[in-house]
Amino acid sequence: MSYQHQKIAETAQLLKKRLAELEDKSRILRSVELRALFDELKTLPPEERSGFGQEVNALRQELQGLVDASRDEAEQPPPIDITAPFGVNSPQPQLLSTEQGSRHPLMTELEQILDIFYRMGFTAVESREIDNDFNMFSTLNFPEGHPARDDYDTFVTVQKDKEGKPLIAPAHTSTMQNRVLKQLKTNLKKGEPIAAVIPGRVFRNEDLDARHEHTFYQLEGIYVDKGVNAGHLIATLKTFLQEYYSKELDVMTQPFYFPFTEPSFEFALSCPFCDKKGCHICSQTGWIELLGCGMIHPNVLKAADIDPAEYTGFAWGGGIERLVMMKYGIEDIRHFESGKLDFLRQFS
Ligand code: DAH
Repeated sequence: MSYQHQKIAETAQLLKKRLAELEDKSRILRSVELRALFDELKTLPPEERSGFGQEVNALRQELQGLVDASRDEAEQPPPIDITAPFGVNSPQPQLLSTEQGSRHPLMTELEQILDIFYRMGFTAVESREIDNDFNMFSTLNFPEGHPARDDYDTFVTVQKDKEGKPLIAPAHTSTMQNRVLKQLKTNLKKGEPIAAVIPGRVFRNEDLDARHEHTFYQLEGIYVDKGVNAGHLIATLKTFLQEYYSKELDVMTQPFYFPFTEPSFEFALSCPFCDKKGCHICSQTGWIELLGCGMIHPNVLKAADIDPAEYTGFAWGGGIERLVMMKYGIEDIRHFESGKLDFLRQFS
């Protein structure tokens, strides 16, 4: 940049030299010399003002650019020498101790849970943390305007899907049913069942207390084949639970309603923490209502192009935290997402 007016050219030279010495570079923009040029501008006759004014502004912009560039440079982290022995570049080597972190207990438990289902022939499919109305409701036999839609206090986002409906934070892992049924449908043609478990993070607009969190994990399960009945459902869940708690348990079902299963059940088990004696985990009742389940509704199978006259199946969905809370006697679900080290360290 060259400046036609001598006064501006001289000031430019002076200020750039000073800039190199300043610690707080932005002070150059408030310098007396720069302000003097703007003051002078006001005194000039109108015909000279525009040319002079353009140059003063150009100088100001040039200086601003230099200040910004030096700031960006200062914010760059120091270069890392990847050939150096571990830790040498760390300004605080104590941060690299073995205390740095550990696996979250939920993830450790989830791995064990999935391992049991692998051994029972199930495959695992991961859920997603953003979904749409189609998977949350339509494919699950909640037609538009269905009152049961209101049972799920779903968080919506400002983003819209192709149909112009808001994208949502899934309130249950059942949002994955249609995708997984379609994806594993080829199993049926080969004479093999669809057997999948789907862990995932879900979100609900809940009033928070010791049993309710807005963000928690669920495990969904689906099984489809010829001749599947509710006895298979109960046996599968009971086998899993006895394996997870390493003990004999009693289970109980009660009729319930979900649009995506018919019949639908609420599934309870004898309290694995107190063995039906009554304790703070089971509210002294000896029983725990654990999850929702049922025989997959024909409309849900149809939505995945599976013929309900030929195939039947069962599904379930329930909170993972609750399983873990009963195993260890954890009294408050909010501990899991609290980030409290005292809580987390008990599991490492
Ligand atoms: N999605 C239901 C809920 O979160 C739980 C559920 C019930 C899942 C029945 C299922 C099912 O797959 O068959 O409230």
